[in-house]
Formats: sequence, structure tokens, C-alpha cells
Amino acid sequence: MKFRNSLLTYCGYASTTEANAGSKVRAGLLSLQSGSSAGLLFLLTLLGLSSCRQDMHDQPRYEAFEGSSFFADGRSVRPSIAGTIARGHLNEDKHLHTGRIGSELADSYPFAIDHAVLERGRQRYSIFCTPCHGEAGFGDGMIVERGFRRPPSLHEQRLREAPPGYIFDVITNGFGVMYDYADRIAPKDRWAIAAYIEALQLSQYADLNDAPADWRTRLNTQQETGMGVSK
Ligand code: HEC
Repeated sequence: MKFRNSLLTYCGYASTTEANAGSKVRAGLLSLQSGSSAGLLFLLTLLGLSSCRQDMHDQPRYEAFEGSSFFADGRSVRPSIAGTIARGHLNEDKHLHTGRIGSELADSYPFAIDHAVLERGRQRYSIFCTPCHGEAGFGDGMIVERGFRRPPSLHEQRLREAPPGYIFDVITNGFGVMYDYADRIAPKDRWAIAAYIEALQLSQYADLNDAPADWRTRLNTQQETGMGVSK
């Protein structure tokens, strides 16, 4: 019984401190000297102890998508039970999460677009889209320079006329050779990127009358004197 307890304690399955490994070893050595059958028991004890060693690099857990003989379907990754929703994933707002209103691609944003949202969109666009689409959206990113298929310019008439829900949809589901970003860009950020792309498009087609009045005069004088825009 003591032997069993000490094994369990060593392996961390029981909390009893009754068994003392040190005295066990001493006792074992003595019995080994006397050549009794207790010596054999001692060796078995050592064998037993070493067999419950568990290295940290070899943890008893499943790797991603590893098979399992425990479940009837052979999968360790458990599908969610029909009719249940993971905490935080209710996604009630269809406009926000699917980019659609009813079955149509949304022509509006699911929340107000302000300067902070555009700034966030600019940042996310720079991180995720510029490698291919380029800083200004002309499809001249670095990956394209290195041979990846060139995406269309975001300033094409067709894409300028596309509703923001379309950009949301392309980011969510991918398009042709462009893979999707659903697992890397949260829905709110996808809308922020769509809004920023709209700002980029406007930047290439704006005329003087689109600028606020005080900027118009400044831009006019700068145009006449040939100076660049400064703040
Ligand atoms: C690895 C390169 C790459 C990245 C990164 C990338 N795209 Fe694309 N994108 C493409 C390519 C290539 C196409 C054209 C795909 C085709 O026609 O098969 C495309 C097409 C598009 C289109 C046009 C779809 C149409 O109707 O023609 C949009 C809009 C778009 N991407 C948006 C984005 C946004 C927003 C991001 C960042 C979240 C992004 N892309 C990131 C390569 C990329």
C-alpha cells in the first residue's frame, strides 16, 4: 500500500506525504545488499518511478487537428454542438458580420465612420493590403514586384462604384487568387479598411470644390506659387 502511495505521490496523483522517497531508497539499498526478494521489489520500484517521468516538451495533449481514438469520429477537434453558439460569437448584427443587408451587399456602414476609424483603417490597410495593393491602391505592392499576380487597381471605375459591403466581402471571403482575411482581421476592422479605401479612391478623384472652404484658398495660393501642400 505504501509503495503504491509513493508512486502516486511521485506522479502527482495523490497528495499524501506519508511515503518518503529518501527512506524508500535507503530501505531498498539495504534489501539489495541482503539479496532478498525485497531487492527485486526495489528495482521494480525504480523502474516504476522512472516510467512516470513526463518531460515538458512531450506533453499529453493533442496537436492541432491530430486524430484521436477516444472519439468515435476519430477527431480530437470537437465540432460545436448543433444549435449552440460560442460565447462572444452571437453575431446578431448581420450587417456588421456579413457585409449584407438582407441578401444584398450593404451600401452603408454598420457604424459611424469618423477620423479615428479612418486612421485605424489606414493602419490595417498598410499592414494587410499594401504588400500587394500598394500604399495608394494601384496594385503595385512589393509582392507584386516579386512576381505575385497583380491585383486590379482599387481606382478602377468598377471598384470605385462598388458598395463598401463588397470590399468587406472580398476581405472576408477572398477573391480569385487573393486569400481571405476572415481569421486575421476582425469585422470592425474590415469595415474600417473599406472606409479607408473609399478615402483613397476619393483622394485620386477629388477636385478643388471637394475641399473645405479654408483649404480651397490655401490650395489655390499654393497652386499659383507652385508650393506643395503644408500644414
Ligand atoms: C498577397 C496579395 C494580396 C493581398 C495581401 C491582398 N490582396 Fe486583394 N487582391 C489580390 C489579387 C491578386 C487580386 C485579384 C484576384 C484575382 O483576380 O484572382 C485581389 C483583388 C482584390 C479586390 C478586387 C476584387 C475585384 O472585384 O476585382 C479587392 C477589393 C481587394 N483585393 C481588396 C484587398 C484588401 C482590402 C486587402 C487587405 C485586407 C487585400 N486585398 C489584400 C492580392 C492581394
